[in-house]
Amino acid sequence: MNMEHRISILGYGHAGASIAATLEKAGNAITVGLRNPGKLDGAVSIEEAIKASDIVIVALPYDAGYEVARQYSSELAGKIVIDMMNPLKADLSGFNTFNGNSGAEHVQQLLEDSTIIETFNHADAPVLANPRGALQFVVGNDASSVDTVVAIVKDAGFDAQGITDLSKTRELEAFAYFWIYFTAMQRKNMDLHLKLV
Ligand SMILES: NC(=O)c1ccc[n+]([C@@H]2O[C@H](COP(=O)([O-])OP(=O)(O)OC[C@H]3O[C@@H](n4cnc5c(N)ncnc54)[C@H](OP(=O)(O)O)[C@@H]3O)[C@@H](O)[C@H]2O)c1
Repeated sequence: MNMEHRISILGYGHAGASIAATLEKAGNAITVGLRNPGKLDGAVSIEEAIKASDIVIVALPYDAGYEVARQYSSELAGKIVIDMMNPLKADLSGFNTFNGNSGAEHVQQLLEDSTIIETFNHADAPVLANPRGALQFVVGNDASSVDTVVAIVKDAGFDAQGITDLSKTRELEAFAYFWIYFTAMQRKNMDLHLKLV
């Protein structure tokens, strides 16, 4: 039986709106936090959304998400922060690393009292909206938080595979960049997904 979680999502663009709908359908209580909450019925400010849940998904462009994390680091302390951001370069010519660290590690260094889990960054928006068993890795340093998020991601309809080592997000973010290239540029179909067989 699915267990309901209170989950806040910061950002409601292609990625945030898609995963919000999927997680809500799976029975979770979703709070959406926006810089302009008037844009969406029921949305609240980013600060209110962070306070509303112990699990917070950051679905913002990387630089904006990092800035929000910096601004609200004390409010995010003790929470699971799901980082679904890919630190893409502004001209989309590649992705940024931070002294060899991934975007997720860079956020974890900033939020030392939060637990960063990276997932949902290597599926395109149509798959986030309709997972159909799509493979999705769930990566973080804390085993029990990885297990919690794996259960949420599975209940939402993905094949979730947990990895307890946040440094593996270096390769995962590189793969996510490759995956965007493959689906958007090569196949021109962002509704493709991977399956383990
Ligand atoms: N698109 C995908 O298929 C996909 C899949 C997986 C992961 N991702 C990742 O998800 C993140 C969001 O991507 P997206 O495609 O959903 O982008 P998007 O459609 O452009 O939406 C961006 C969202 O972030 C908000 N935002 C932008 N700048 C902000 C700021 N400075 N402060 C507060 N909020 C801000 C926007 O709010 P406003 O409406 O107010 O501008 C909007 O809600 C990215 O990191 C991306 O790498 C995307």
